[in-house]
Amino acid sequence: MTAPAEHRLRAELPEGDEKRRSVETMFDRVAPNYDHMNRVISLGLDRGWRRHTLDELGLPGGSLVLDLACGTGDLAQELTDRGARAIGVDFSAGMLAASNVSTPLVRGDAARLPLRDAGFDGVVSGFALRNFVELTGVFSEVARVLRSGGRFAALDATVPTNPLLRIGNAIWFRGAVPLLGRLLAHDAAAYSYLPRSTAYLPPPQVLADALGEAGFVDARHHTLLGGSVLVLSATRA
Ligand SMILES: C[S@@+](CC[C@H](N)C(=O)[O-])C[C@H]1O[C@@H](n2cnc3c(N)ncnc32)[C@H](O)[C@@H]1O
Repeated sequence: MTAPAEHRLRAELPEGDEKRRSVETMFDRVAPNYDHMNRVISLGLDRGWRRHTLDELGLPGGSLVLDLACGTGDLAQELTDRGARAIGVDFSAGMLAASNVSTPLVRGDAARLPLRDAGFDGVVSGFALRNFVELTGVFSEVARVLRSGGRFAALDATVPTNPLLRIGNAIWFRGAVPLLGRLLAHDAAAYSYLPRSTAYLPPPQVLADALGEAGFVDARHHTLLGGSVLVLSATRA
């Protein structure tokens, strides 16, 4: 998709309070099928992407790590399995209720975290950046709750820059995924929103610069699966 097409798509998506409400209610709605649909949509690859993101975090066992916008808590559980002390925060009561992980998950807004300053060694976030209403405010909150030298790592769905891979990505995410959402989760609206919502995600360098402005150093980014998955990491100054 060309940049103007991406811009047009974004103009059709909700912003501000309307986005916040629609994201929360949509995740409440899809929660019961979320884990299963994740595996289907990613062809089971999401587990490897999550492990890769935790490798990027690079923290030793025993570290206290926040899973930001944890959903049903897959990353939080993977952290616990690796010996970290993890907690998750998400604003969707439905996603938290659908979770069956052993890690504590609490309800809260990423833009106003109910957590003390500098208490965490690390923060991770999976597939949530594009769902936040205001990314700079969220990055400030992540900076606030991390100790100096603490690590942040996030992954999210994005669109490849290579034109051929963009076509493959569009066939799967904009064609097959909404169809699978209709057939398997009976929710075509949610599963057509999910791929369209990549239009919210700023370019990687803009994200890295925003992390710098929020108080991070050494912001890095790279992609997986031919540019369909973005991995972002940085260190709290
Ligand atoms: C695509 S899901 C990802 C869930 C999980 N992190 C994962 O890797 O599967 C996006 C999550 O972000 C949450 N979310 C979006 N905006 C939020 C906010 N402002 N505060 C807390 N959670 C938020 C949604 O409720 C949803 O659970």
